[in-house]
Amino acid sequence: MDIYEKLKALRELGLAKIKETTDEKTLNQVRVELIGKKSELIGMLHSLGDLAPEERKEVGQKVNEIRDLFLELLAKTQKEMAERILQAKIESERIDVTLPGKHHQVGASHPISVILEDLENLFTNMGYHVVQGPEVETDHYVFEMMNLPKDHPARDMQETFYINSERLLRSQTSGDQARVLEKWDFSKGPLKMVGPGKVYRRDDDDATHSHQFMQMEGLVVDKNISMADLKGTLELIAKHEFGADRETRLRPSYFPFTEPSVEMDVSCFNCDGKGCSICKQTGWIEVLGAGMVHPNVLENAGVDSSIYSGFAFGVGLDRFAILKYGVDDIRDFYTNDVRFLKQFRKEEQ
Ligand code: DAH
Repeated sequence: MDIYEKLKALRELGLAKIKETTDEKTLNQVRVELIGKKSELIGMLHSLGDLAPEERKEVGQKVNEIRDLFLELLAKTQKEMAERILQAKIESERIDVTLPGKHHQVGASHPISVILEDLENLFTNMGYHVVQGPEVETDHYVFEMMNLPKDHPARDMQETFYINSERLLRSQTSGDQARVLEKWDFSKGPLKMVGPGKVYRRDDDDATHSHQFMQMEGLVVDKNISMADLKGTLELIAKHEFGADRETRLRPSYFPFTEPSVEMDVSCFNCDGKGCSICKQTGWIEVLGAGMVHPNVLENAGVDSSIYSGFAFGVGLDRFAILKYGVDDIRDFYTNDVRFLKQFRKEEQ
C-alpha cells in the first residue's frame, strides 16, 4: 500500500470510529488512538525524514489535514454528547407545577408546656433558679427529708409507685426542695427556686385523675422570710395565670413539710364569684397548696431553722391548664390526639 492509500485508509477508519462512539469515555480513548503521541498518524510525522524531499511536504500537509479533521470532528461529537446529557437531565428533572402540593402538618405547643414556660419566665425574671430532680427518686428525698418518716400517716395522701423499698417514681416534686436545700450556700444569697416536672401516682385514670401529671415546686429560703412574702408571691401567680382582677384567699390546710400550711383559692373566673358549676356554687376555685417551710425540713438539710425561714408552694400544672382552657378530661393531655392539641395553636400557620 502506498503512503497516500495508507493515509486515506487511516482517515476513513478514524472518521468511522469517531462516528461510532456514543460515550465520552470511549471518545477520549479514540482521541488517544487516532491523534495521540503513539498513534499511527502522528507516528508518520516523525518518519517524514525517510521520505523523498518532494513527498515530505505533501505527506506532512496531508497528515496535518487529517489530524485537524479528526480534532474538529472529536470536538463536535463531544459537544453533541454534552448537549444530549444535559437534555436528558432536564427531561428527568422536569417539575410538574400542576401537581397538588404536599401538605405539612404544623404542630402546636402542648397546653401544659405553654403554662410551664410562662411560669418559668415569670419566676426566672424574679431571680429564681429552675431545677429538675429525677423522676425515679428515692424515698429519702421524696418523703424522709420532707418530714415524712417511714411510718408517717400522711404518706397515704400520695399513692406511690415503689420500685423497691428505697426507690420509687416520685409522687411529688417536693423532693427537689431537699436536694437543693442541702447543697445551698447561703453566703451567696437567698435560695429561690422552682422545680417543674412529672410526678406519678397509683391512681386509676378517669376524667379527673391521671397516674401521671405535672407539678411545679417553689421554694424560697432566707433570713426573715414571712407569710407575707408567701402571700404576695401566690397572689402574683394567681393574677398572672387567671387575670389581674381575680381575688385570692388562703385557707388553712395540712402538708407535712409546711407549718402553717395553706391552700389558695381564686375567685371563679367563670361567674366572677357569684357561683356556677365550675366553682361548685362556692364562687372560689382551689388552685394550689403552700406554706411556711417546716423547721424539720430545714434542719434535715443542715439549715439552721433558728436563723433561716422560708416558704414553699406546689402547683399542679394540669389543674392550671384544666381551669385556664376549660378542659374537662385530664386524660386529653396525655393521649396526644392532634385534634385536641390543635385547639391550642396560637395562630393559623
Ligand atoms: N407536694 C404537694 C402535693 O403533691 C403540693 C405542695 C403543697 C407542695 C404545699 C409544696 C407545699 O411545696 O408547700 O400535693
